[in-house]
Amino acid sequence: MKTKDLLMDEESLFKDENVFTPNYIPEDFVHRDSQLEEIGLSLKPGLRGVNPVNALLHGPPGTGKTTAVRFIFDKLKEASGKLIPVYVNCEDFSTPYSIFARIYEAVLGVSPPSTGKPLEDVKERLFRQLKKEDKGIVIALDELDRLFLEKNVDRVLVDLLKSHATYGYDRVGVIGIMIKDDLMAELDEKARSVFNPGRVLFPQYEPGEIRDILANRARHGFYDGVLDDELLDDIVDKTHCKGDLRVGIDLLRRSALLAERDASRKIEQGHVDKAFGSLSEFHRDEASSKLSEEERSLLDIITECPGRMSGYFFMRFREKTGAGVKKYNEIVKRLEKQGLIKAEYKKGVRGRSREIRLS
Ligand SMILES: Nc1ncnc2c1ncn2[C@@H]1O[C@H](COP(=O)(O)OP(=O)(O)OP(=O)(O)O)[C@@H](O)[C@H]1O
Ligand SMILES: [Mg+2]
Repeated sequence: MKTKDLLMDEESLFKDENVFTPNYIPEDFVHRDSQLEEIGLSLKPGLRGVNPVNALLHGPPGTGKTTAVRFIFDKLKEASGKLIPVYVNCEDFSTPYSIFARIYEAVLGVSPPSTGKPLEDVKERLFRQLKKEDKGIVIALDELDRLFLEKNVDRVLVDLLKSHATYGYDRVGVIGIMIKDDLMAELDEKARSVFNPGRVLFPQYEPGEIRDILANRARHGFYDGVLDDELLDDIVDKTHCKGDLRVGIDLLRRSALLAERDASRKIEQGHVDKAFGSLSEFHRDEASSKLSEEERSLLDIITECPGRMSGYFFMRFREKTGAGVKKYNEIVKRLEKQGLIKAEYKKGVRGRSREIRLS
């Protein structure tokens, strides 16, 4: 390799490494227009001086729920100031007091004073202040599942949304965020009736959408020529298999770091494979070190893309090892016996077929 092909110590492949970090809010938040519009519509009354309509954002991990809310809240902060947005992650704040203290801090700019009746006192001061300022408030409760787990979801929702009964203030909207909306059925009657949210579904991204998003990320994050289209396609495939966009964003970053370690000016296939391998490592437990080469090979294929139908894995296995269907079925059975995979019959388009997952 010529010296000019090598990356110098002070050089980097990253134009902006920040775009691969979890807190980054993408400049191009694509393929979520209808969801953003729905959320925007539910907030609109809040900008007109009445209470916003409650909403529940739900969908699988990595589908942009948190980002959508943070995106809209940033815009709201720049806007008129008639509606105050407050983001609360219930993993960090899961008791009624800590949630109200967080909201209090966001509105009044200071922590609540400690007194004898902390929660009631904080609520009263908070709502009095909002009334005085003549402002509405919208609170996003992210990771809402956590409040169900802690069994205080009813209390929090009712305390937030029935403020008019006690404090004469009714301009509160709540945006709940969670993966599955079926937990809603567990709300008690009172909480269900005050919350009663409009649902906004965030479906899994299609491969073409994943490609757009990752291509944008690479464009903002890497210098030109660092990532070839074929490698981007490979990363898109791997991301789609894992069903989580975060895998793709992480792969871009890790592959580039590996390339930098090799002083390479661009990402090579080997870097992507290695980065993906280290991501998938946790799927393989100790038992797998005792597997035969063929067993390990099939397990690797399944680990890359669990949950697909048996025919898909057979094709991949045949490509890799040249084995026939009998051999393949034997190995599936052996892996199943060792408790490493689960093969379950499902009714498919072409009759019954097995769906294979990791145990
Ligand atoms: N449409 C999009 N355009 C650009 N980046 C996106 C898009 N959707 C998601 N992302 C990125 O994917 C990552 C995961 O998104 P986010 O955290 O919003 O997912 P989530 O639905 O809240 O997931 P979880 O349920 O696990 O909390 C983030 O890095 C985010 O920037
Ligand atoms: Mg989230």
